[in-house]
Amino acid sequence: MGRSRSRASLVPLLAVSSLLSHFAWGFDCKDIVAQKVQFHFEKLGGPHVVHWQEEDIEHEMLYKYNFTLDICNSLKWQKGGSAATECHQGSRVCAIRENIDLSMDNNSTITPIDIAGTYKTQTGRELEAKFELLRNSKSNSDAGREGLRAEFHGGRSPFDDKKNGIDQRAIIEFVCDKERTGLEGDEKDKGDNEDKPKDGDKDGKKDGDEKKEEKLRRRENEGKGQCEDSDRSLRFCGYQLETADKDKKVKTLRLEWRTQHACEDAPTPDGGSHWGFFGWFFIIFFLAIASYLIFGSWLNYNRYGARGWDLLPHGDTIRDIPYIAKDFARKILGTVQGGGSRGGYAAV
Ligand SMILES: *[C@@H]1O[C@H](CO)[C@@H](O)[C@H](O)[C@H]1NC(C)=O
Ligand SMILES: *[C@@H]1O[C@H](CO)[C@@H](O)[C@H](O)[C@H]1NC(C)=O
Ligand SMILES: *[C@@H]1O[C@H](CO)[C@@H](O)[C@H](O)[C@H]1NC(C)=O
Repeated sequence: MGRSRSRASLVPLLAVSSLLSHFAWGFDCKDIVAQKVQFHFEKLGGPHVVHWQEEDIEHEMLYKYNFTLDICNSLKWQKGGSAATECHQGSRVCAIRENIDLSMDNNSTITPIDIAGTYKTQTGRELEAKFELLRNSKSNSDAGREGLRAEFHGGRSPFDDKKNGIDQRAIIEFVCDKERTGLEGDEKDKGDNEDKPKDGDKDGKKDGDEKKEEKLRRRENEGKGQCEDSDRSLRFCGYQLETADKDKKVKTLRLEWRTQHACEDAPTPDGGSHWGFFGWFFIIFFLAIASYLIFGSWLNYNRYGARGWDLLPHGDTIRDIPYIAKDFARKILGTVQGGGSRGGYAAV
């Protein structure tokens, strides 16, 4: 009857599947390619926090910064967060600044600063991630260093002020250090950190804070381009107004991340992305076959009033598959056994 006259084509479905594989989320931290060298940073994913504070003596203000970044995903709001105290949706790098007014009983306010992210729906601005090998950098200070420099854009503060807002960016240097995973001294978002004194030990905490301030002062004396004196793998190196291309002023957060994942001979984390690709491939492949069968059956039913086996496109072929397989196996067995005894295989 109507069987095999309907040829629902696979071509459009294959086209859809290839579109899916080109779908991109800015960049993939699992597979960053810079000048043909691949880096896998999924182990560094998740929110990580770095602190800094800055005093404005003239205005009697103290600014305490918490910089949070996630190189693999957009940052999520804290529980109970609101637009007044959190960065916008789509942020990858965010600063929460506490403004402490020393002239007014240390009264403080919170200013969130969007440094980098994809804010396409809000402002049309994007992350525009750029990657460069340190050894290919033009800067002399990078000579002999192994690793990757990443530059992220998209932020502005104040966020909605097109005219007076200051563009923001983050420059992160991932420096090869075979001894470090990259998570040493890590402070997860609002999480505990190891060298924090125990609760109730207020004096200890004060001492810690004072030490931290001393360190900051020392660092400032060392001048620009120096990173915080810290044993943590992720370190703060500066947050200043810099002159970028075309004499544009851009407030730039600089971080340094020492990690073995930035070494060019770092082992590839096994599985992961490749299985991901084949996983997608098989899902799409089976969806395609299912759609083909369903659509083909529907066509056969409607056009030709087919029933039973006749419903399936190529129903006769499908019905024959067991026999074809049997035949095939028989042939192979025949070849293997050569022309010898022909007795043993009939019951396949
Ligand atoms: C500081 O804030 C408190 C509560 O918000 C307020 O009562 C106080 O007047 C403020 N102090 C100054 C000096 O503004
Ligand atoms: C305000 O904060 C500064 C620095 O943190 C501290 O030295 C000072 O004692 C504080 N003053 C008051 C009134 O809390
Ligand atoms: C910054 O982080 C510290 C430690 O995690 C936290 O105590 C503080 O409240 C944070 N500040 C802001 C403004 O979120």
